[in-house]
Amino acid sequence: MKLFSLLLFSIFIAFATSFWYTPELKKEFDEFKVKFNKSYRNKFAEIIAMLNFKNCTEFIRKHNADESSTFLLGVTQLCDLSYEALMNFTARALPEGPMMESRALSYVDPSIFPVGPTSIDWRDSGCVTPVKDEFYYCNSCYAFSGVAALESQWCLKNNISVTLSEQMIIDCSKGFFGNQGCNGGSQGASWTYIEMISDGIESDTTYPFIQLAPNIVQKCQYNRSRAVATTIGYSRLQSRNITLLQNAIAAVGPVAASMNGGWPTFWYYSDGVYSDADCKPSRSHSVLIVGYGVDDSVDPPIPYWICKNSWSIYFGDNGYFKILAGKNICGIEVQLVYPLVPYVADWTTTTTTTRRPTTTTTRPTTTTTRSSTTSTSTKTTTTTIRPTTTTTEITTSTTTRPTTTITTTTNPATTTTTTETTVNIATSTEELTTIETQDTTAF
Ligand SMILES: *[C@@H]1O[C@H](CO)[C@@H](O)[C@H](O)[C@H]1NC(C)=O
Ligand SMILES: *[C@@H]1O[C@H](CO)[C@@H](O)[C@H](O)[C@H]1NC(C)=O
Ligand SMILES: *[C@@H]1O[C@H](CO)[C@@H](O)[C@H](O)[C@H]1NC(C)=O
Ligand SMILES: *[C@@H]1O[C@H](CO)[C@@H](O)[C@H](O)[C@H]1NC(C)=O
Ligand SMILES: *[C@@H]1O[C@H](CO)[C@@H](O)[C@H](O)[C@H]1NC(C)=O
Ligand SMILES: *[C@@H]1O[C@H](CO)[C@@H](O)[C@H](O)[C@H]1NC(C)=O
Repeated sequence: MKLFSLLLFSIFIAFATSFWYTPELKKEFDEFKVKFNKSYRNKFAEIIAMLNFKNCTEFIRKHNADESSTFLLGVTQLCDLSYEALMNFTARALPEGPMMESRALSYVDPSIFPVGPTSIDWRDSGCVTPVKDEFYYCNSCYAFSGVAALESQWCLKNNISVTLSEQMIIDCSKGFFGNQGCNGGSQGASWTYIEMISDGIESDTTYPFIQLAPNIVQKCQYNRSRAVATTIGYSRLQSRNITLLQNAIAAVGPVAASMNGGWPTFWYYSDGVYSDADCKPSRSHSVLIVGYGVDDSVDPPIPYWICKNSWSIYFGDNGYFKILAGKNICGIEVQLVYPLVPYVADWTTTTTTTRRPTTTTTRPTTTTTRSSTTSTSTKTTTTTIRPTTTTTEITTSTTTRPTTTITTTTNPATTTTTTETTVNIATSTEELTTIETQDTTAF
């Protein structure tokens, strides 16, 4: 029997290789294997991978021969996967289910942002963390996008660079506010989980990414005393308003977005301004918009967004891509959110085991408009000594702080109720609980 299989296998290989196998392809594929450290289970798997690779490189050559295109494709680590496998992974949207989430349908007043400059790239601020790699097969783009946005906002507000744990979001927020572990979720639900349930998020050093096999969700390992950052809510921008998105990015920093990630020209994008109008709007992938600009080397000039992906540094331009602005390519201009973060002094890292009386604090209400970018808004954090009864209290962004000179924006009239279990429920007139139905991305 074994011999028979072996014989069949040999015949298959001889047959399979005879038509398409060329020394050039072999050489290219060998280089690919080295560059991306690829190894295959067996010879059969390797031949399938090589066939996919051949199809991929042919697709890339064909696209790059078209000189009218504004972008180039290149060999990425995805080139040995079949079209079906990639679609399976990158285009999967969740069945829509109602998700209880406050803020889901409330939008920031577009007039609060001052007019931004013609271009901005937050990578220059030092507050955009290194590009991560969400492969293996766990649909966790929402965690990567949400965490990347939080890393940047935390850094811009507190001048503390942190890289945070996507695995914690995958494991722990599963079942909260509509998040579904390796089956997708949303950035907003992840931030709300951090704000209301966990009261913080660990770094990706203490809580590392462990996707060594497909779809791994482990028991939540969160330890509150290791939390290094938190959120106090999030804001949503109106869809498809280019001026608003530019002004908001300039004023608050990187903004998380969702898009259609299930499209071949996107998988293999390598350089230029991505502009494939055939990439239809959908919500299957999530990224972080870290800036915008205009490519005026071409006529007419092309406005673009600069986006951070989580498909390793081998995707695109060192992990980033530029995408045509104003045409809602792949639906990237629809779902735009960013987390609100406190000053670190307002959020102490005392463990939840500290017993303290239940207090209800009504915060003073101020509504101010931020007038400049946040890159210089670092605050003194050492002088604030807070009473022990408020150790795990989360303050909203409208708090008037005695020790600071800049007050930041957004949620008017917020009452924070602090309970012993560190579950904080923020409500306000415009944050009525709504049923969110369309906010989830799968990959
Ligand atoms: C290459 O892959 C092997 C096994 O797949 C792994 O043990 C090794 O650490 C990888 N090396 C690099 C540089 O990623
Ligand atoms: C080859 O690649 C293209 C683009 O990704 C895809 O549409 C097509 O289905 C692939 N063909 C095969 C046989 O995998
Ligand atoms: C598609 O995904 C499902 C569920 O994860 C899996 O069982 C199936 O094998 C995948 N198909 C391909 C072609 O990867
Ligand atoms: C931010 O922190 C760095 C060191 O971590 C320090 O050199 C720099 O002065 C700080 N910036 C501000 C505005 O406080
Ligand atoms: C939580 O983390 C702290 C600090 O690293 C550690 O001392 C403590 O033992 C941890 N608790 C649990 C239950 O693992
Ligand atoms: C788009 O945003 C701009 C700038 O914030 C604002 O002035 C304008 O009213 C918005 N347009 C719409 C249709 O809301």
